[in-house]
Amino acid sequence: MNRVVAADAAGLRRAAELLRQESVCAFPTETVYGLGAHAFSARAVAEVYRLKHRPSWNPLIVHVATTAEAEALAHEWPPAARLLAERFWPGPLSLVVERAHHLPANGGPPTIAIRVPAHPVALALLRECGLPLAAPSANRSESISPTTAEHVIRSLPDVPLVLDGGACRLGIESTVVDVTVSPPRLLRPGALSLRAIRDVVGALQLSRPSGSSGQLPGSAEAAPEVRSPGLAHRHYAPRARLRLVDDPAALVEGSDPGTVGILTHLPAAAEGAHVELLSADPLEYGADLYAALHRLDDAGVATILAQHPPHGDDWLAIRDRLTRASAQ
Ligand code: TXA
Ligand code: MG
Repeated sequence: MNRVVAADAAGLRRAAELLRQESVCAFPTETVYGLGAHAFSARAVAEVYRLKHRPSWNPLIVHVATTAEAEALAHEWPPAARLLAERFWPGPLSLVVERAHHLPANGGPPTIAIRVPAHPVALALLRECGLPLAAPSANRSESISPTTAEHVIRSLPDVPLVLDGGACRLGIESTVVDVTVSPPRLLRPGALSLRAIRDVVGALQLSRPSGSSGQLPGSAEAAPEVRSPGLAHRHYAPRARLRLVDDPAALVEGSDPGTVGILTHLPAAAEGAHVELLSADPLEYGADLYAALHRLDDAGVATILAQHPPHGDDWLAIRDRLTRASAQ
């Protein structure tokens, strides 16, 4: 049977059935495709870790359909959580709160990351199966997150089912914010901008020494205190070696054009056999970034020369992903 199915009523029923049987299924969200599993089934969650080759210390985000369901998973729902959920859910924001004591802990952290996704298919699936769904990005650990059903199948060839909802609108993972502390702390920059979050909660602590200037995290990422366990140094990486550079066109000269890909938002830098010219608008750039990396990998290049993205908060998540992708 075909494992990529349309997200129609029949597809949703089939997916929900798999999830209730403690199996797993990939589905679209507005950020990236997730690999869903009943969040409190040890068996289903173990299957997610196995398929993704994900290290067991890295906890999963739990997806629910409503804020009320999210609150039921939390020991405490702080004022910042209320404000942020009211403003941004459903949407690309994950909130880390204290975990309700009745939930199985399974040796994980005393906190839980929760989000209400905005994609109609994700919401329909959550309602159809009636389960909270743990859903990390549906890719093999450390590789590029999937923004299409085809990306999922290529990264996770053994996935039992993918609900096809087309290309993801945002293309960058959710922003993760810890609201157990005051002011709230940014754990992972993502599709929701810092400006939008600050507008609602005022101050926001940044986890990294890079600080509010939004400097590239670079090698400072090996910081002693990593509060979001998933922020491993190397992540979001294509097969090709990715280098962040100031002038890709200059570097490509003299090299075999077939082996080098260029990723840039500057038309002037776009010379060479394999060029991905992305938008100079950060939202559009973000929406196409992972697909562009997949395309460069498909072209078989050995090296990707990625133009440094601009400074500024709007590019923070993109700089973060490119920096991780370039880590050795
Ligand atoms: O947009 C997204 O968030 C996508 C879609 C599918 O919803 N999901 C996603 O999940 O990106 P994943 O597993 O690839 O990333 C989850 C991040 C990791 O960095 C993980 O360490 C962090 O959230 N996280 C999960 N639970 C946490 C917790 N209790 N405390 C701190 N960080 C947590
Ligand atoms: Mg991921």
